[in-house]
Amino acid sequence: MIKHCYVHIPFCSSICSYCDFPKMLYEKKFINSYLNALENEIKEIYKGDMLDTLYIGGGTPSSLSIDELKRLFDILKTFKLSESYEYTVECNLENLDIDKLKLFKSYGVNRLSIGVQTFNKNYLSFLNRKTCDISIIEEAKKLGFNNINVDLIYALKDETLEDLDKDLNKFLSLDINHISTYSLIIENNTVLSINNIKPIDEDIDFDMYNLICKKLSDNGYVHYEVSNFARTGYESKHNLAYWNNQEYYGFGLGAASYIDSMRVTNTKSIFKYINGEYRYQVEKLTKKDKMEYEMILGLRKMKGVNIIDFKNKYGVSIDEYFNIEKLLKEGKLIKDDGYIKISSDYIYLSNDILINFIGEE
Ligand SMILES: C[S@@+](CC[C@H](N)C(=O)[O-])C[C@H]1O[C@@H](n2cnc3c(N)ncnc32)[C@H](O)[C@@H]1O
Ligand code: SF4
Repeated sequence: MIKHCYVHIPFCSSICSYCDFPKMLYEKKFINSYLNALENEIKEIYKGDMLDTLYIGGGTPSSLSIDELKRLFDILKTFKLSESYEYTVECNLENLDIDKLKLFKSYGVNRLSIGVQTFNKNYLSFLNRKTCDISIIEEAKKLGFNNINVDLIYALKDETLEDLDKDLNKFLSLDINHISTYSLIIENNTVLSINNIKPIDEDIDFDMYNLICKKLSDNGYVHYEVSNFARTGYESKHNLAYWNNQEYYGFGLGAASYIDSMRVTNTKSIFKYINGEYRYQVEKLTKKDKMEYEMILGLRKMKGVNIIDFKNKYGVSIDEYFNIEKLLKEGKLIKDDGYIKISSDYIYLSNDILINFIGEE
C-alpha cells in the first residue's frame, strides 16, 4: 500500500537564475495537453491506495490560471485521502492570489509551501525573482491556512552574515510554522553558471548555516532535517516519508517515484511527456540498495535511523552490515535513544559522512 504521492507542475511565470528543476516558462498552449497527459499517467499507474500525503510541486503550480487549477484539482480528486491527510501546494508570491487560495481550500489543500527566498532587493534581482511582497501570506492565514512553509535561500554572492541575519528576522516575523533553508547551489546550465558565478566561501557558508540553526532553534523551531525547521507538530509529513525511505507515487514531468522496489524517473522532455512517453529511467533496487537508501536518506533527519526498525526491515543490524565503527569513534555518528544519527557538530558535513554508506558489501 503506497501512502504518498508527488505531482509535478513544471510551469513558472518567470525563470530564476539558479534553478535546474524540471520547469519551463508558462505557456497557455501547453497546459491542456500537459494536464491530459498527467491524467492519463495517473489512470495508468494509481491503484486506488489511500494516501496520507499528496504534494503538488514544481515548477510553480500557482502559475496556472483559476480554470487550469480547477482542471488540475479535478484530476487529483482521483486520489483517495486518509482522514489525517497532508495536501501541499507549492506557490510563488509572484502569482499567488486570494482566489487561488480559496480554490485550494475548496479542494481540501491544507498546506502551502511558498518560495520567498530573500527580502533583500539586490539579491532578489540576482536570483531573478520578481517580488518579496508577503501580504498574501497574511491573507492565507486569514483563510485558515496554518500549515505553511516558506523557502529561504542563503550563501548568495557577496552576502554577509548581517544580510542573512536581517533576512532571518523578517522570516521569523512572518510567524509561520515551517522554514526550509537552502544554501545556493550553482547548478550547471543555469544563468548563474553561464555567468560564471562562483559559490560563496565555504567558511562563510558554514557560519551562515550555524547562524540559521541557532537563530531558528532559539526562536522555537525544531531542526528536524539538515535544511528544515518546524514548530512541533508541523514537520512535513510528505518529506519525512522520503527520508524514511517509504514508497511513493510520482507523476508529471521529471517526477520520481518509488514503487514495488523500483525507483522510476520520468522524462524531462515536455514533448515526450505530452506524447505519453512518461518513463526515462527505471532502477530495480536490490536489498543492498534499499539498505543504503535507508541510511543515506534517514541520516538527513536529526533524529537519525531507528536501530530496531532497520533490523526488523532487513534482518541485519546497522553496525553488522555497515562499517561504522570509525565514524562512531570519531564522534561523527552517535547512538542515541535507539537511533543512529549524525552528531549535530558534523551535520553540516553530512554529505561527507553519507558517502560512507554507498557501495558497502
Ligand atoms: C519549486 S521551488 C518552490 C516554489 C516556487 N517555484 C518558487 O520558486 O517560489 C523549490 C525551492 O528549491 C530551492 N532551490 C531551487 N534551486 C536551488 C538552488 N540551485 N540552490 C538552492 N536552492 C534552490 C528554492 O528555495 C525554491 O524555493
Ligand atoms: S525556483 Fe521556483 S519559480 Fe524559480 S524557476 Fe525554479 S521552480 Fe520556477
